[in-house]
Formats: sequence, structure tokens, C-alpha cells
Amino acid sequence: MLTALRSQAMCGIVGYAGARSALEVVLNGLRRLEYRGYDSAGVAIVDGGVLQIEKRAGKLSNLEKAIAENGFDTSAGTGIGHTRWATHGAPTDRNAHPHVSVDGRVAVIHNGIIENFAKLRLELEERGVEFSSDTDTECVAHLLALELTTHTSAQDSTTLPEGALAAAMRRVCQRLEGAFTLLAVHADAPGVVVGARRNSPLVVGCGDGEYFLASDVAAFIEHTREAIELGQDQVVEISAAGVTITDFFGTPATGNSFHVAWDVSAAEKGGYDYFMLKEIAEQPQAVADTLRGRLTETGEIMLDEVRLSDQDLRDVDKVFIVACGTAYHAGLVAKYAIEHWTRIPCEVELASEFRYRDPVLDRSTLVVAISQSGETMDTLMAVRHAKEQKARVLAICNTNGSSIPRESDAVLYTHAGPEIAVASTKAFLTQLVACYLVGLHLAQVRGIKYADEVAAVVEQLQQMPAAVEAVLGTMEPVRELARSLAGSPSVLFIGRHVGYPVALEGALKLKELAYMHAEGFAAGELKHGPIALIDKGTPVFVVVPSPRGRGVLHDKVISNIQEVRARGARVIAIAEEGDAAVEPFADHVIRVPRTPTLLSPLVATVPLQVFACEVAATRGHDVDQPRNLAKSVTVE
Ligand code: M6R
Repeated sequence: MLTALRSQAMCGIVGYAGARSALEVVLNGLRRLEYRGYDSAGVAIVDGGVLQIEKRAGKLSNLEKAIAENGFDTSAGTGIGHTRWATHGAPTDRNAHPHVSVDGRVAVIHNGIIENFAKLRLELEERGVEFSSDTDTECVAHLLALELTTHTSAQDSTTLPEGALAAAMRRVCQRLEGAFTLLAVHADAPGVVVGARRNSPLVVGCGDGEYFLASDVAAFIEHTREAIELGQDQVVEISAAGVTITDFFGTPATGNSFHVAWDVSAAEKGGYDYFMLKEIAEQPQAVADTLRGRLTETGEIMLDEVRLSDQDLRDVDKVFIVACGTAYHAGLVAKYAIEHWTRIPCEVELASEFRYRDPVLDRSTLVVAISQSGETMDTLMAVRHAKEQKARVLAICNTNGSSIPRESDAVLYTHAGPEIAVASTKAFLTQLVACYLVGLHLAQVRGIKYADEVAAVVEQLQQMPAAVEAVLGTMEPVRELARSLAGSPSVLFIGRHVGYPVALEGALKLKELAYMHAEGFAAGELKHGPIALIDKGTPVFVVVPSPRGRGVLHDKVISNIQEVRARGARVIAIAEEGDAAVEPFADHVIRVPRTPTLLSPLVATVPLQVFACEVAATRGHDVDQPRNLAKSVTVE
């Protein structure tokens, strides 16, 4: 049966070599990586010439229970661990990682998809190898074992020759197609963990006499903040003595060394019940951090990495924004700001659709890719397509050195810090800030806005952390409302202009966290069909624009409120302080501070995040790890 489960596509992996208990280090690392997937988890520890393996379907707690029951050695210093998000097939114990070679000596964990697994599996089966899982990963364990048997002559020794596992990994990687991060240990190579990467993240943590490998620095941040990010097609070997990096053909290589700016407390719940609550509360700081130091003394906006000249930006005649999910909603808001400030046409595309409709791109097109993780495969593929068509690519990203910024021509990093909850909150607000900055930068470089005009908007942006803080201070009635509406079969969200993406974001949060039917609509579209959904008591959130902005927008939304009210809706208006016009028509009014219209999503989104979080908690759901989801979606 050659239909392997492409089952380890977005996973968390961690490896350790040093003097501590590898089991403890690996389990702690997996706890921090569980956001990447939580369908199954497993570990392999090298101990006295044997591999101790444990793996279980379900969350990490199942694995921890099994380890406690089965009595694992906790002192050995070499090990690997894996947490999985399944893309195809049921997550079972059998398909959980690590996977072990037939001789029981090699254990492998994997993030990604090995596209030529069917051919490799057939070849291995013809050589008599019996598979014990349906995964593509298992091929790698058997291939490594075969390579070691073929190329290692010292069979009389109980220890593998130095570098043998890494050499075998290089030879195996030369045969693999697809995207993968692999970690391997061998029973006869105590003290050594070998890793490889292609199109999937892998970072090395450099401690004092100890080294770590992980998909994300969060896995080892409590031990070290010094890290090396591996380049494409590289193999790494770690031991207590150091780290060796080569390409797939053995040529010595160096990764990209960096210091992690945040510490372990940023990856802890810090007294909150859920990471999501903590991350909602961190938004004022995240917005302030993303804005900090962006304006030079001469009043110019600074991006982080710019491999584009000002002339390249002046030549831009069209902007495409590509992103997924919440990041896409940030892009929808950005369109209003970019077109208003730069007068360049701007289109927003779901990254997963972008390249399939063959968009018209050339050197004068700027593609802005927005991604918290920087690893979202749909967005990465859109970036690659744009680059193939010679477009310029600018990334807005929260993860230093991840694939999307690395492959882009310019980068603006959001400084949200680690976002652990699957539902995006602080990443969204900081993406909005970054989009505003990109719009201002473009307007300035193209001479459409003068430095003082840019500074005036930046000044308004600098008021936003306090405005978000003010919203957070008034959320108790929203939580009460959430508890009272937790049993509603359906909730609708409507808005106009920048309020429309806010409505979409409110609905997405409720869907993913509360598993409720929720829809966001442009308020003007309701009468073209969706208004038929409204029944007596249907909750409808209305994002009301400022009456101080374009009056016509406010008046139209008030009319929309009356339309839904007339059909029995229970109206919850999000309106700015002092807007008395909404009161006669709304059942509940959630007040947000006065802000310029374009910046209003920064405050209007917050009550919707709080609402969704509270509904989910009331319904008894896992707020941080909603069902069927993972934080980084590294499959198309
Ligand atoms: O890492 P990215 O920003 O590229 O992720 C994009 C989406 O998968 C993400 O925003 C997703 O929609 C969130 N879970 C929504 O809360």
C-alpha cells in the first residue's frame, strides 16, 4: 500500500545534545511548540546503546502520561521529540513520530512532505524492508539505516564512527524531494543529533556545552538566546562539543547567527488562563514596539531590511497584498490606507488563490506578503510566484529570519513577540501598524506626502497603544454579553469601509474558537441576500464608523442597523465615544476611543477578540488550541 499519509506537514520538532536530561529538555520544548500541532507527540532518547521511544496520539499530555507509566530513563543527554498536525489520515499512535528503522537503531522525526516517498517506499520494500506506519517519514529512517550499513565499515565497534550519521543524512537528503526538516538519532551515536532542512524551518540553539535543534526558538529559549538559523539544503550535527553545518554534499557552511530579543517570560502564560488572553493584553505594548524607532531624524519611515532602491519604489504602479486568514484581513484594511495615501491601485488577494489565477505582474508591481509566522506555505508560494514574474516583494512578518522575509526584497518586522495562541490577536494589530508604515513609506518616497504629513500620521499612530489600553479596560460588559450569547446558533458581523475587514475578523475569531456559525459582511451587501439569515434575536455586531469622518458612511451604517433591527436582530454596536446617533437603534453599545477612521480597526477589533475568547471559554473549548487547527500552516 503506497498511499503514505502525508501526515507530518506542520509539526514542532526539538532535539538536544548536552549534559541535562534530554527527556526533560525535549518535553519542555514540545510544550512550547505544541501550538504548531497537537494531533500526536513522541520522543526518542539515546541511552546506553538503546533507543527509548514513546509516542501517543492526541495532545502532549497523553505522551507525558505514557512516559510516567512506562518508566523512562530521565538522565540521558541525547534526544529528539515531535508534535504533529495531521494533514491526511487519522492521527494514531502508529503514525506518530519518531519512526524507527527496521534494525531498531535509527529514530527520525520530520516536519514537511517527502514528495517522492512512493518511489522510495517501493524501492525499500523490494529490498525486504517492512513498514510499520503509513507515513512518508519512515522511508528516511530505513534509508539512513541502509546508508550506514553500506558505508560504515567499523561494524565491530559499538559506536558509529564520528560524522557517520551526518554523512548518511547528507546522502539520504540528496535523494529526497519536497519540503522537510528532519532530525535523527542513532542508538550507537550517543551524544549526537543530526538535522537537515529544505523549505521548512530549523534553528540551532547554542548553549554552554549543550546544543539544541528546533523548529522555533521558543523550544529552547529558557536555556539560551543565541541561535543559528540553518540555510536551505543544509545538514547540521550537534553534540555537547559543538555544531557542524554543511550543505547536502558535505561542503562546510555557516547558518545565520542571531540573538533572540525576547526571553522565556514572553513564551509563558504569565498568570493568564490562556495565551490568547495574555496576547490580547499585550497589544498596547506590541503596537508601541512595532512603531518604536521607525521615524528617522529627517522624518523618514525606516523598514528593517531593504534590498530595493527608492527608484524601485517610485516605479511601482500597482500593489498586490497577499496573505491568509487574519493576515489577509490586515491586508484588506491596508488597501484603504495605501490607496488613500499613495494613489497607487492596490489589490488584496488570498495567497492560496494568487498564483492560480495568473495575476498580471512585472517589475513595477509591488507584492506585499503579510504573515505572522513567515512560514505559511500559501503565502510563501505566492511570494515565489511574484518573484518569478519579476515583481518586487516586501514582507511584513513577525518571525525573524523565517522563509517569507528571507525570500523577499524588503522586510518590515512586526514586534509582537511570540504569539502562541492559534488565534491571531496581537499579530493582527501589529500587522495593521506595519501596513500603515508601508503606506506612509511609499507615499513619502514617491513624493506624495511630505515628512511633516508622515510625522502627523505617525503621531496619531503613537496615540494608539493608549487607545487600545483604554478599550481593554472596559471589556467586562463584553465578557458578560459573550456569556449570555454563548448558546446562539449564529452570530453576524457587519461593517463598511475599514469596518468591513474588522467584521470579517470578528467572524473568523468566533468560528475558529467557538465553533459557531459566524459570518462577516459588508453592511451594504446584506440586502443582496444575507439579510435573509436574520431571525428574531440573531446577534448582529455592527462596526460603526466615526460620525466625524465621511458622514455619509456613518449615516449608511445607521440605516443598515435599522434594516437588521426591523427583522428582529439583536444589535451590538461598536461605536466611538460620543456617537449618540447609534443609541436609539442598538441593544448594546460597546464604546471605543475616537480615532482617525483609517486607524480605527486598531481599537474596533479588540472587543471582538475578547468576545470570541469568552464565548469559547464559556462553551468549554480549548481557547489556545482550537480543534483541527495549527498555528503555522506549512502546507498548501
Ligand atoms: O502565520 P500567518 O500570519 O501567515 O498565518 C495566517 C493564518 O493562518 C492565520 O492568520 C490564521 O487565520 C489565524 N489562526 C486566525 O486567527
